[in-house]
Formats: sequence, C-alpha cells, structure tokens
Amino acid sequence: MNKKITVLAGDGIGPEIVAEAIKVLDKIEKKFGHKFEYTYVDIGGCSIDKYGVPITEEGMQLCKQSDSVLLGAVGGPKWDNCPPAIRPEKALLAVRKELGLFANLRPTKLFAQLADSSPLKKEIVGNGIDLLIVRELTGGVYFGPKKTEEIDGELVATDIMPYSEHEIERIGRVAFETAMKRSKKLASVDKANVLDTSRLWRKTMHRLAEEYKEVEYSDILVDNTAMQLIKNPTQFDVLVTENMFGDILSDEASMLTGSIGMMPSASLSSTTLGMYEPIHGSAPDIAGMNVANPLGTILSAAMMLRYSFDMASEADAIENAVNKVLDDGYRTGDIMQAGCKKTTCSEMGDLVAKNI
Ligand code: IPM
Ligand code: MG
Repeated sequence: MNKKITVLAGDGIGPEIVAEAIKVLDKIEKKFGHKFEYTYVDIGGCSIDKYGVPITEEGMQLCKQSDSVLLGAVGGPKWDNCPPAIRPEKALLAVRKELGLFANLRPTKLFAQLADSSPLKKEIVGNGIDLLIVRELTGGVYFGPKKTEEIDGELVATDIMPYSEHEIERIGRVAFETAMKRSKKLASVDKANVLDTSRLWRKTMHRLAEEYKEVEYSDILVDNTAMQLIKNPTQFDVLVTENMFGDILSDEASMLTGSIGMMPSASLSSTTLGMYEPIHGSAPDIAGMNVANPLGTILSAAMMLRYSFDMASEADAIENAVNKVLDDGYRTGDIMQAGCKKTTCSEMGDLVAKNI
C-alpha cells in the first residue's frame, strides 16, 4: 500500500524521536512491501520562530490531505511567554480540532521487563497494569467560550465547558467498541454529582450501555478514579472520559508504569485520518543529546499502522520488536536498570528496526 504521512517533528527531542520511528517504518516498508511518503511540516516553537505562528495554514492543509500524521512534541521554555494565541500548544489544539480528532486513545501498559520501574508496590501492580484511557479530545472546557473581563474593579476569568449529546455519543461509541475488542469492561468517568455536562454524559453513556449489553459497564466519579488508579489500578480496563479529566488522569496513569517515555497515543477522527504521538513532552533539557527514549514514538507509529492503515501484522511486528529489545536488556537512560545495557536514542531505533 502507498500511504502519505505528514510528519510534525516539533521542538526539543521531537526531531530525534521521530527520526527513530521513521527508521522503524522504513524497515516495515521493505519487509512488507509498502510505500510511505513523508511530508515534513513545522509545528510549535520552531514554526513560531520561522513564520510567527505555531502552524501555518499551508501546514494545516498538508495534515488534512495526508493519510495520517506523526507528531513528536511541541513547546519549551523559549516560547513560554508567547501570547496565548500563538503558543506552541495552540497548534496542537488547532490540528485536533481541524482534523476532527475527537477520540484520543492512551494505552497505559506496564511492560513486564520494566515492572520494577513502577512506583507502586508489587502487590498492587499484580500481574501488570494494562489499561486504556479513551479521552474526548475536541470538546469541553478546552474549546468552550473563554474570556477575561473586569467586573467591579477586579479581573474575572471564565472558561465554559459545553458538551452536546452527539459529542458524548460518538466518543461513547468508540469506547464501547474498544471495550468489545479488549476485555469487555468499561468505566465511564465523570463528576455527575456536581456538573450538568457530566449528568448529560452519564445519561448518554447509559443509553449506549443498553446497546452493548455484553460490556460490563460502570460509572465512577473522577476524584474517586484518581484515588483508585493508585489504590487498585488493575480493576480497570477501558476508561472513557471528557477532555480535561482525560488529560489529568492519563498523566497520572502513565506514571503508574514509571516510564512515560514508553507511552504512545492515537487521536482518531470519524475517517481513517489520525494523529499519533508519544504522550511525553519535548524534554528541552535533553534535546539534541541523543539520549531520549524513542519507544513511545515508535509504538505510536505502530498504532498508526493498526488504526489508520489497517496493518495489524505490521503493527504487531513493531510491538514484538520492542518487546524483544527490552528482553535483550537494552535500555535508554529513563528506563535504565542494574545489569542492563544502556543505549542511545538512535541505537534504540536501530535495535528495534533490526528486530523486525
Ligand atoms: C496532552 C497535553 C496537551 C493537552 C497540551 C500540550 C495542550 O497535555 O496532550 O495531554 O492538554 O491536551
Ligand atoms: Mg496532558
């Protein structure tokens, strides 16, 4: 198959980790007889420096015209004081919105080889953590009306969190379908004891639960979820939640594995166009040093093959290669353990490619 991939390498370690994912995709091309065509577009701080905006209109069009988008990371202290409208993160939100990427899948998996990296006790981790957060990505307080105004002599800021039934229903369907493909267990996270948006969320999820009778469904409040993720994380399989709760809980969940550098993500639309990125940030402190962990990006490329291109065997090949490299004891600094072999970012990419 021929596929057009727009590459948004971004800032900090973005270009290094993306280069390793492309190295791995090159090997997949050769091995499975595909053709991947890459178009590079600047995003985030590097785009602000060159064009004065975090992504150009032309860059956005290139994303829309491709079969999928691979992203490294955006942002860094250099651009922290940019006005809100041109901050690096703004481009990320704009791409999500313009490409209609409403469903964000964030798998959290504790690799058996890295079990010791979890900050949780062994008896809590049990046989391993393997859960998936389905985060609504184009609605809620991130995209609702916002303003800062002066009232009675002081500044008052307001962010509104709107959710309509169709937005809740479509993310709900993704979550139920995903649960059907995993262990048929779904928890919907909300704050229905306080928020109207959550009450509508819960009502809509209950309607869907009637359609998916095979799925063991439950509601859970977001504050309790934050606690249960630490107390008993293995009770969860698929979690579905609104945009901001998902932002917070996915960072919390990723830390259970002790290795945020390993975690991939997929942002999906109603077509096969998706965006794939590691969940960690641009790590400006180690940028350009060839020490970053590229596995989160490499595993994101595997998700791209699975979800956008329907290439399940190719995705399996990447995931198996990552497992093999970990089995063989290779580790970047962030996941280094006694007795293992320390590798650089580019060596890690070479090793994964070699094992495909
Ligand atoms: C994430 C990030 C983004 C978000 C930021 C960079 C805007 O934290 O992808 O989780 O809040 O969605
Ligand atoms: Mg976040």
